[in-house]
Formats: sequence, C-alpha cells, structure tokens
Amino acid sequence: MSGFTFDTPPRLVCEDGAALRLGALARELGMRRPLVVTDRGLLDAGVLAGPLDALGEAADVALFADVRADPPQDTVEAAAAMARDRGADGVIGLGGGSSLDTAKLAALLARSGESLADVFGVERARGPRLPLIQVPTTAGTGSEVTPIAIVTTPTHEKVGVVARVLHADVAVLDATLTVGLPARVTAMTAVDAMVHAIEAYTSRRRKNVLSDTLAVRALALLSRHLPRAVADGADLDARRALLQGAALAGMAFANAPVAAVHALAYPLGGHFGVPHGLSNALVLHQVLAFNLPAADRMYAELAPSLRATGSAAARPATGQALLDGLAELTAALPLERRLREVGVAADDLPMLARDAMQVQRLLVNNPRDVTYDDALAIYRAAL
Ligand SMILES: NC(=O)c1ccc[n+]([C@@H]2O[C@H](COP(=O)([O-])OP(=O)(O)OC[C@H]3O[C@@H](n4cnc5c(N)ncnc54)[C@H](O)[C@@H]3O)[C@@H](O)[C@H]2O)c1
Ligand SMILES: [Fe+2]
Repeated sequence: MSGFTFDTPPRLVCEDGAALRLGALARELGMRRPLVVTDRGLLDAGVLAGPLDALGEAADVALFADVRADPPQDTVEAAAAMARDRGADGVIGLGGGSSLDTAKLAALLARSGESLADVFGVERARGPRLPLIQVPTTAGTGSEVTPIAIVTTPTHEKVGVVARVLHADVAVLDATLTVGLPARVTAMTAVDAMVHAIEAYTSRRRKNVLSDTLAVRALALLSRHLPRAVADGADLDARRALLQGAALAGMAFANAPVAAVHALAYPLGGHFGVPHGLSNALVLHQVLAFNLPAADRMYAELAPSLRATGSAAARPATGQALLDGLAELTAALPLERRLREVGVAADDLPMLARDAMQVQRLLVNNPRDVTYDDALAIYRAAL
C-alpha cells in the first residue's frame, strides 16, 4: 500500500450538554463578535435556545438564520456578506449539514476575500478563514469534521468546495441537540452517514488503515443504534452513538472520499429537491449491487458490522450479506423506496445520468468504473 496523509480537526468536544459551553469555547478561540449560522426551522423548534443564551452571555452574537437545505450559492454569499458587514471575528455553525457547510464558506469568504466561483473544486481555496466552531444537530453528514462544503448552483448542480482550510478549529458533539430530530430526518441522515462509511471503506484512491478503522466502527455504531433512535427519539444513548458514528464516518470519508452512491444521489437533490440522505438511500442498493463484482471482498469485510442487526446476524460474512443486511435495515425505515415516489419519471433518467457523469470528482473513487450506460441502468433499477 502506498503512503497516506490524514487530516482532521484539531479538537473534538464530545459531551452531552457541551453546546451550553459554547461561550467559553468561542472565547478560547478569541471570538468576541461571532456570527452564528443556522436555519429558521431549528430556531423555531427551540433547539438552539440554550446554546444561544449561553453564547450570548459570553459574546456579542450576530445571527444568520436564513440557511436553506442544500444551500444555494446566494445563501452562502449572503452569510459571508453578513459576517463581513458585522465585523465578525469567528463563525459558529449550529445545525444540520446545510448550516455547517454554509458556516464553513462564510468563515472562508469573509476573511480571505476569495469568491465562491474561484474556490469550487479540490484545494482551490487558499484562505485564511475566520476561526470556526461546528456544532451538528443532525447525525449524518459529518460536516463538522470534513473539509467539504456542498453548494447548489443556479443551474441546479450540486458542487463541492473541498479544501483543508475548511476544517473547523473545534467540533462539538452534543447528543442532546439531536433528541428532537423527527424519525424521518433521523433515518435519512443516518443512511447518509452509513454510506459515508461504506464508500470510504471502498474508496479506490485514498483508502487507508485509519479511514478503514473509522469506517468499520462507524458502520457498527450507526446500524445498531438507528432502529432504536427511530423507535424512540429520546433514547439518548442511541442518539449519542449515531452522532459519534456520523463523525467517525465523516473523518473517514474526509480522507478516503465517497463515490458513485453520492455521485448518483446529487442530481436527485439538485433537480428534484430530494434531501441528501434520502437521495443516497434511493440509489444505495442499486449502486452496491453494481459494485459487488469489484468490491465483494471489501463488502464482506464490512458485513459483520451490520450483523448485529436482525436476521443478518445469522448470515455468513459475504459481500452479498452486506447488501442483504442493509436492505433489511432500510426496509424498516420511514423512507420512500423508489425514485418514482419522489417525482422522478422514466423520461428524467437520461438527464440524471448525464449529470451524474459530471461528478467525476467522486466517480474516480468508485471501486468499479461507471459509464453513462451504467448510471442509466442503475437509475432504471431504482425507478
Ligand atoms: N460537508 C460535508 O462533508 C457533507 C457531507 C454530506 C452532505 N452534505 C450536505 O449537507 C446537507 C444536508 O445536511 P443534513 O442532512 O444534515 O440536513 P439539513 O441541514 O438540510 O437539515 C434538514 C432539516 O432538518 C432540520 N433539523 C436539523 N436538526 C434538527 C434537530 N435537531 N431537530 C429538529 N429539526 C432539525 C433542519 O431545520 C432542516 O429542516 C446537503 O446540502 C448535503 O449536500 C455535506
Ligand atoms: Fe453524504
């Protein structure tokens, strides 16, 4: 195996109630006028009242609460402009992946003066950025520990900014913030995290011993605790395990990037507004079945992580066992199963396949080459 490098944020604060210490954490980074980046739904749900009060006692806080799911380019630019106009000396992302991604880019653009168009792609952002704290309220994207921000362009493409400068200074994992997450959002975000673990483990270019270790443990934590959190959202042990599993998966795929499941999921988000985790779930089985001839051994290595769940426990560890275990797990989730249930028609599939082929940044990591015809066949199977 060739050598590897591994990047991750320098500090993880992992404790129930840790978000109530945001004031002290912000001061440690020298923040006196932080910008908090979040979305209106979270604010209205009251999830952020405790953390915002605590922060308000320690600092002069400005609030950007206009984040929209799958953040459009102009939302990101508005957040950056607000950070600049208010003279913010730090940014705190507080929310799901959409808020955390917006926070990353606001911290970058407000300080470096780069424009968003200049930094799309891999390692094009130079920085510097403002100090950055990331506090997830979903257990899914792992954005708190990744150097990635995903933006939706005016032409409905989902494009990534990937650059080491986007790694947060501190990630705060406080499971109490995720207790009110509805069962459906819990399910879709956790599937996203499971896909991060699986695709990191099979990543063709940068898979390494550290990302493998994180991915295996992440998949075990996520698959064992997802059914519990869906059944009882207030199960704090399950919530904590999901949040930690999502972060471990995030650390893994930040260094061993994701592949065809994500590449085929993005056009569903861009064109049909399907939430990120659900769009992954809708093509997961078909992509893994396509990959199986090339990834059989790696899937077999992952299968035991799922075997603690349901009847999968009795199966031998083969590549197919991973697919069967995932099918069993996802069948019990409150999610749509077929593309047609989210408004996709047969006529749309060529356009989706064309768009998926544009996501070469991710397709190059897939264990099996994907052609346009392959992508079309995968979408057809998922319709
Ligand atoms: N940066 C990365 O590494 C990375 C990785 C994967 C996905 N993403 C991106 O992240 C975005 C998706 O993020 P997401 O799946 O976390 O969803 P999200 O941030 O879009 O939030 C989804 C919904 O859940 C609500 N919500 C969040 N936390 C809640 C809570 N605790 N209680 C009640 N409601 C809550 C929000 O208000 C919102 O309505 C997409 O844009 C995707 O492309 C980024
Ligand atoms: Fe994802």
